[in-house]
Amino acid sequence: MSVAKKQYKRVTTKSVVEMKSNGEKISMLTAYDYTMAKIVDGAGIDVILVGDSASNVMAGHETTLPITLDQMIYHASSVIRAVKRALVVVDIPFGSYQSDPKEALRSAIRIMKESGGHAVKVEGGKEIKESVKRILNAGIPVMGHLGLTPQSIYKFGTYTVRAKEEAEAEKLKEDAKMLEKAGCFAIVLEKVPAKLAKEVAQSLTIPVIGIGAGNGVDGQVLVTHDMLGMTHEFNPRFLRRYLNMYEEMTNAFEQYAADVKSVDFPNDKEQY
Ligand code: KIV
Repeated sequence: MSVAKKQYKRVTTKSVVEMKSNGEKISMLTAYDYTMAKIVDGAGIDVILVGDSASNVMAGHETTLPITLDQMIYHASSVIRAVKRALVVVDIPFGSYQSDPKEALRSAIRIMKESGGHAVKVEGGKEIKESVKRILNAGIPVMGHLGLTPQSIYKFGTYTVRAKEEAEAEKLKEDAKMLEKAGCFAIVLEKVPAKLAKEVAQSLTIPVIGIGAGNGVDGQVLVTHDMLGMTHEFNPRFLRRYLNMYEEMTNAFEQYAADVKSVDFPNDKEQY
């Protein structure tokens, strides 16, 4: 496929849909703080996700469930202060949208008003249809998330590949269609067979952004700390590490400790 590339000064929900129709793949990474967001944005990444993976990566929780709406707003507002170009999408955390559409809308409004985020992301299909519609009716762009949805980890029981069986694959396809029809501007597909992901991407006009979903989709997302090799215990097959920051940082910290102990740091030029 020929790749028609258009330079976007500012990426919007409209631009990512346009990227799909132009055959341009969409790059997406997570960020939870100002400094990281500034680097990610400066590198030209199209979409920054303030993911509820902050619960794992930043806070050390085993799952994404404990992170609160206030904490997500704190992370998102730090990211927003850094970003000049990327579209910033913010996860609505577990427990802030599942009970009813009014609560979902209240949470989405708080995110948009208090953090300045550009769109929200929610996990699930037909179960949350009314909430998705309510948020969209208020003029807030919504990104869906299907396949492995970490907020439902206790229902699944494991983090293994989803929708390998026919029934689950069929439901996923229906949910994706429903989210597009409701008005979502994009969908994340996590950890599903590449063949299924490609089929879903080809059946929709909105972009499908994959994580562990192969290269037949419209874009890719990774957790930044994973692709930088900071979280070295996490080794799923889909993860490509671009750096080994765990080792680099450990070496730097060890060197610093040794320099302090030996009074090599600070030297004459590093003092007043
Ligand atoms: O929270 C997150 O980082 C995510 C990505 C893994 C897609 O939802």
